[in-house]
Amino acid sequence: MNPLLDKLQPYPFERLRTLFAGITPNPAFRPISLGIGEPKHATPQFIKDALCSSLEGLAHYPLTAGEPHLRDAFRRWLMTRYGLAVDANTQMLPVNGSREALFAFAQTVLDASAKPVVVFANPFYQIYEGAAVLGGAQPYYAPCDPARNFAVDWDAVPPEIWLRTQLLYVCSPGNPTGAVMPLSEWKKLFELSDKYGFVIASDECYSEIYFGNEAPLGGLQAANKLGRSDFRRLVSFTSLSKRSNVPGMRSGFAFGDSNYIRKFLLYRTYHGSAMSPVIQRASIAAWEDEKHVAENRELYRRKFAEVTPILAEVLDVKLPDASFYLWAGVPGSDTDFARELYAQYNVTVLPGSYIARETGGATATSNPGAGRVRMALVADTAECVEAAQRIAEFTRKLKK
Ligand SMILES: Cc1ncc(COP(=O)(O)O)c(C=O)c1O
Repeated sequence: MNPLLDKLQPYPFERLRTLFAGITPNPAFRPISLGIGEPKHATPQFIKDALCSSLEGLAHYPLTAGEPHLRDAFRRWLMTRYGLAVDANTQMLPVNGSREALFAFAQTVLDASAKPVVVFANPFYQIYEGAAVLGGAQPYYAPCDPARNFAVDWDAVPPEIWLRTQLLYVCSPGNPTGAVMPLSEWKKLFELSDKYGFVIASDECYSEIYFGNEAPLGGLQAANKLGRSDFRRLVSFTSLSKRSNVPGMRSGFAFGDSNYIRKFLLYRTYHGSAMSPVIQRASIAAWEDEKHVAENRELYRRKFAEVTPILAEVLDVKLPDASFYLWAGVPGSDTDFARELYAQYNVTVLPGSYIARETGGATATSNPGAGRVRMALVADTAECVEAAQRIAEFTRKLKK
């Protein structure tokens, strides 16, 4: 058996099940979950129709590189969304959701014989850690600074770690903080990548859900602005799951440095991760439409505008830059808060310490997720407002 499998951490929702084991939530309340970040807005009918009218595709093996039509839809989207000219033949690949691609990319990049390090923010999306571990690398958890809108403190990563770093994951907009990386931070990362030679994998799956007037800056867009039009050592990952409310479709794409895309294609050909022709056709329809994306964003904006003020009266929380999460400071322990909230009010939230790691600091709070919870506002507005009201009542009682 692969011994590295034993080094994987339990998934946050497994830990949540253990935390809630044996509890019977107050039957006076119907259950509301703000736990899992699964989009719940309706899947647009035109995407379902495109899927149903493409069923003849079931009779064919797909190309791992995707149909030219699909890659052309990616190309046009990148031009519209970011003003980027990306080569459809050499700089992009379809993936079956960003999750598998973010994981598989580490298998393409890492040379385990060199005792590599993989760097990412703390808190983080757990796939980065699993990809690092199964790729034979050591994960390095870079701290975030709550005083600077949870920006990652890249200067806190010591040179001896950078020297061994082969891969860096960034997540902008971030899960769980919703923070968007500005151009100055990208500049710093590109300089570090040039100095130490590591590859940047940019997770951009929340890029279309944002609250300000300006759409979040993308990794390749930042590179282009800084004169790096070859996108060297940079590959971004995007997805339809959140943008188009199709998490079950498993559809996204990777784009960036052609050297890495070429090797990623080779890896994926053996791994057998080609996208079904049926999904390819439905994906073309989805990437070619922006109306449903704007409507979806508007739904989140109205929901967050109603929910955030209710919670901000009792918790340390504010409207994020982007994403569909609130990352809230709670009184006392995050796990106690989540357990008691579930028991008394039948609302599920995710303890922040489950999506961050102890980094060996001097105090018990060296887990940067401790004392915070993540709330995914994916249900409809009325349900999220009701959850917020219950959380506010619970917190007020707790503070008395
Ligand atoms: C930060 C982050 N990246 C990637 C994913 C994977 O999304 P998908 O595989 O549906 O594209 C998720 C899903 O929740 C996520 O939160």
